[in-house]
Amino acid sequence: MKKSLICLAVTETTLGKNLNTILKYRNSIDMVELRADFLDKAELPFLHKFPRMTDLPIILTIRKKTDGGKFVSDERQRRQLLGNGIQGNYSYIDLEEDFTDNDFSKRIKKKGVKIIRSFHDFSGVPHDLSRRIKALAKSPGELPKAAVMPQSTSEVYRLLQCYKECDHMDKILLGMGTFGFPTRILCSSLGSYLTYCSAPGASAAPGHIDPVTLTDLYRFREISPKTFVYGIIGNPVMHTFSPCIHNPGFARIGLDAVYLPFHVDSIKDFMEVAEFLDIRGFSVTIPHKENIIQFLDKKDQSVTQVAACNTVVKEESTHKPARYCGVNTDGIGFVEALKERLNKTSLDGLKVTTIGAGGAAKAIVFALVSEGAEVLIINRTVHRAEKLADSFHCAWAGLDDDGLLKMQDYSDIIVQTTSLGMEPNSNMDPVPGYTFKGHETVYDIVYKPEMTLLLKRAQKAGCSIILGKEMLLGQAFVQFRLFTGKEYPDKAGVRILL
Ligand code: ATR
Repeated sequence: MKKSLICLAVTETTLGKNLNTILKYRNSIDMVELRADFLDKAELPFLHKFPRMTDLPIILTIRKKTDGGKFVSDERQRRQLLGNGIQGNYSYIDLEEDFTDNDFSKRIKKKGVKIIRSFHDFSGVPHDLSRRIKALAKSPGELPKAAVMPQSTSEVYRLLQCYKECDHMDKILLGMGTFGFPTRILCSSLGSYLTYCSAPGASAAPGHIDPVTLTDLYRFREISPKTFVYGIIGNPVMHTFSPCIHNPGFARIGLDAVYLPFHVDSIKDFMEVAEFLDIRGFSVTIPHKENIIQFLDKKDQSVTQVAACNTVVKEESTHKPARYCGVNTDGIGFVEALKERLNKTSLDGLKVTTIGAGGAAKAIVFALVSEGAEVLIINRTVHRAEKLADSFHCAWAGLDDDGLLKMQDYSDIIVQTTSLGMEPNSNMDPVPGYTFKGHETVYDIVYKPEMTLLLKRAQKAGCSIILGKEMLLGQAFVQFRLFTGKEYPDKAGVRILL
C-alpha cells in the first residue's frame, strides 16, 4: 500500500499569511490545500500567483457553505474564480460531486491539473458509501474524495468496511469529528491518498490536528499496514493524556505501533472495530470501565475484585474471533508510585487512611490490602465506607470526628480519593479538622490542580507528598508493560512533559 501524504489546509484571510503558515510547518507536510473560501475578497484576483510562492504541490479549493465551507456567492462567480486560479500552477483542484460543467473540467485537465472529486457528509456515514466513492469520478484520472462524519461507533465500523471494499482504488477517504479521528491517523494502513491537517487553532474541518502532532506524536510517516494499533476508549476521550504517554514510549523502544483515542458510544460495536483493526491492546476510561467486563475472555483478579477494568490486552494467538484479557492497573499503578517514593518493596504492616469510598478508592484499597497494608476507609456516606471495608476486611468510619480520631491510628499514609480539592472545588479540603504531624506520607489522586489544598497543608507540616499525576503515570506505566512486555523507557521525561 502506498504511503499517505500530509496535506496542510490553510485558512488564513490573506495569501501572505497562508504562506507564513506553510513555511512554519514545511518540514512536516507534503502538500497544501489552499482554502480560498477563507480569503479576503481583495486577495482573490491573485489566486493564480500562489503556487509560485512555494515548492509544494497545491490543491485549490473554494468550498461552498453547503459543503462545510465559507463561500456564499453564486456558482458562476465560483467557476470564474477557479478558472482564474488555475492560470497558476496548481497541482490539484477540488470540485464537488455536483459540479457538472464538463467543458470546465476538460479545460482544467488540459492544463495538467488533476481533479479531486469530492463529497462531504456531516450527518453520518451513508449506507451506500462504497458505491458512491466508486461512482464519484466523472472522467478518467479523477481522484475521488469522501469526507464523512461518523455519529457513532457502528458508523466508524461501516466506514472501515468501506476502506476494504474500495481497497483496489486510489481515493481520499476520511472520517471527520471525534468518532472519525483514528481514520485521519491510520491513512497509510487503511488506504487514503492523503490526510488533512491544520495549524493549531485554525482547524479547517472537524478533527484536524496540527502537522507536528501528526508527525511527531503519532509518527504518521512511519505508519503502515504492519503497524500495531493500540488505543484508549472513552466518552469523552479526546482530552486524555494517554497518547502523549504511550506514543513516545513506543518510539523510544523502537516498536512499530501507534496509540489512538477512540471515542466510543457502544463497547459492543467497538469490539468489531478492534477486530477489524487488529487492535493489540487498549486502555479503558470513563464511562466504560464496568461495561467492558462482559466482553472479556479472561479477567485478572484486579478486575474481578474491583469490578472495573482499565486495560485490555489481546491474546497473542491466531484465534478468531480474537480473545481479550482484562486487567485493572489503577490500583497497581497507584501502589507502584507509592512504593517507589517510600523506597520499599512491600507495604506490609503500614497503616493507611483512605478518604472516600467510590470507584477509585475501591481499586486503591484492593491494591493496598494486596500489598499487606492495614487500611481505614473514611467516607461522607458511612454505609459506603462500611460496604467497601467489608469486601477487603478493613476498618471504617464516617468523614466526621469519629473518623478524624481513628485516622490518628492509620497515619503512615493518607490517601485522598474524593473529588474535593479538584477543579472547580479546589478551595475544599476533605479533612480540615485533621492536623498533620509531619510523619505522614500524603497522596492525593486529584491531578487538577497539581497541588491541592490538602497537599499544601501537608507539605507545610513537613509531610512527604505525592501528586495525583503519579497515579496517572503509574497506571500507564503498568499498561505499557502489559502492551509491550517492556518497562516504560523514559519515566523522568514523560513526568516533565505532563
Ligand atoms: P470515583 O470513581 O472518582 O471514585 P465516585 O465513585 O463517584 O467517583 O466516588 C466519589 C467519592 O467522593 C465518594 O467517596 C464520595 O462520597 P459519597 O460516597 O459520600 O458520595 C466522595 N465525595 C464526592 N463529593 C463529596 C463531598 N462534597 N464531600 C465528601 N465526599 C465527597
